[in-house]
Amino acid sequence: MTQDKAEQHVIFASTILLLLFAGLTLFIASIARASIARANPGPDAAASSATYRAKCAACHGPDGGGSEVGKSMHVPDLRSQAVQKQSDAELAQIISNGKGGMPAFKDSLSEDQIHALVTHIRTLHQKK
Ligand code: HEC
Repeated sequence: MTQDKAEQHVIFASTILLLLFAGLTLFIASIARASIARANPGPDAAASSATYRAKCAACHGPDGGGSEVGKSMHVPDLRSQAVQKQSDAELAQIISNGKGGMPAFKDSLSEDQIHALVTHIRTLHQKK
């Protein structure tokens, strides 16, 4: 009888421990998810801003306002109306084929990447 009681205690205690452990794991997982979500609004947005920093920011600056080099080449402010009023298709076409001092990217970027960059340019506008 006392043997049974002791066994029940062990089972009870290990069940509690297991529940605590599961709860803790879920809790940590949800914190991790929340902080990842805060760091990047979405996988596409993160990838396109990385592409932008790698391929475009040297001339256009991290915020689209133009780097020192870009300003010497008279890059337009990507946040300006002159750029933003153009359709997605027009902007994608310019990124693909280039324009004036702006290099063509159709050989180094996929169509999806170019469209993601157009979306990224729209977000620069919102941040101004
Ligand atoms: C070597 C410097 C350089 C790099 C790198 C560069 N650009 Fe440009 N970009 C320019 C210049 C110069 C212009 C102005 C072209 C003109 O109007 O003659 C321009 C213009 C633009 C315009 C506006 C075109 C218009 O007529 O309104 C967009 C949009 C643009 N670039 C996007 C990008 C994107 C996206 C990337 C990265 C994939 C990029 N650029 C990389 C130099 C650069």
